[in-house]
Amino acid sequence: MTAPHIPAIVLGGTGYVSGELLRLLAAHPNFVLTGILSDSQPGEPVAKAFRHLAPVLGDMVFRSQAEIEALVASLPRSAIFGAAPHGVSAALIDALLTRAEAAGVDTHVVDISADFRYPNATAYEAVYKHPHGAPGRIGEFTCAVPEHLARAPTQHVAHPGCFSTATLLASVPLLALDLVTPTLFVAGVTGSTGSGRKPVEGTHHPQRHGDFYAYNALAHRHTPEIAACAAAVSGVTADFSFVPHSGPFARGIHVTVQATLKTAAGKAAPDSATVLGAFRDFYRGAPFVDVAAETPHVKDVAASNYARLSASTNGRTVAVTCVVDNLNKGAAGGAVQWMNRLFDLPESTGLTAPAAGWT
Ligand SMILES: NC(=O)c1ccc[n+]([C@@H]2O[C@H](COP(=O)([O-])OP(=O)(O)OC[C@H]3O[C@@H](n4cnc5c(N)ncnc54)[C@H](OP(=O)(O)O)[C@@H]3O)[C@@H](O)[C@H]2O)c1
Repeated sequence: MTAPHIPAIVLGGTGYVSGELLRLLAAHPNFVLTGILSDSQPGEPVAKAFRHLAPVLGDMVFRSQAEIEALVASLPRSAIFGAAPHGVSAALIDALLTRAEAAGVDTHVVDISADFRYPNATAYEAVYKHPHGAPGRIGEFTCAVPEHLARAPTQHVAHPGCFSTATLLASVPLLALDLVTPTLFVAGVTGSTGSGRKPVEGTHHPQRHGDFYAYNALAHRHTPEIAACAAAVSGVTADFSFVPHSGPFARGIHVTVQATLKTAAGKAAPDSATVLGAFRDFYRGAPFVDVAAETPHVKDVAASNYARLSASTNGRTVAVTCVVDNLNKGAAGGAVQWMNRLFDLPESTGLTAPAAGWT
């Protein structure tokens, strides 16, 4: 039987996540890169924006929204990857889906922006302070990391994001296995690509390189997304206290989650080996999650779709550490993993390249 070829469309043009999507799709045996939407550079060569991808992009050019809408309507089916900014993405995807529905064609969307992560527009608007771009479409999306939900119950998926992927991978087993009281303290560190391509004072790499600092402590917009997603997949409503940090590297996320272990009457709290064993069982069969006693490093996973986890205990305190690549597992790779599943492909298709080691 020949492998299916499914046209892939990328929204988010010249952005970092778009670039990582293009890199992964170029090596994917089933998704065929067919159109890339750029708001600012339609008609320009894609290789001009992503010089490292020139060998696989040929003479492909960015397309306008009108061209992408016409393209999607002309294809019997397509895999649409959303990597536009939040606040833009929902209306853009709504316009594309409306056109696809009118043409009677089949599409799955995985959106990497925050626009479809919330269960309703009110919850989204409380955090983002602007009206949701397509409130009627929210119910068509499920937000989860693939490791926590065997099958999406909806046509489309919302990727939880980079900090959230690492935090959820570390937290959900603690909650779902009833190992901890539901108050979690999270310290997360991100590389500078987490802030996107446009240099902005405060998030620009030269400002961050060689420095290390916390920002938006206990007030980051991803905290309610993490809490909602963790509750939906674990069944436990937990209180997350999240302090993000800027790390002096370009790509990668490092998260440490601390919590208080529950103990049975008269019994000691579980030790490190017991918690590690519980995590190994929880992620058994998950091809991209590795649980080990050794402390994970960002470079173990940088530029890959893999996540590494470790756990230690001391008395009733447990600390779980997780590393992922923000642009790959935390964005483009996690989206391809979900899209594989939505099209009934093996979930690891096109994603098994190991980390770069030195980035
Ligand atoms: N960076 C990460 O580590 C990361 C991780 C997880 C999730 N995310 C999310 O993924 C999305 C993309 O992030 P990013 O880091 O790639 O950001 P980015 O580098 O700033 O890229 C976003 C791109 O969106 C396009 N865009 C801007 N305005 C647009 C509009 N009005 N209509 C259509 N396209 C527009 C721009 O490209 P054109 O002008 O060429 O269209 C821009 O380069 C965001 O929603 C972000 O929150 C990012």
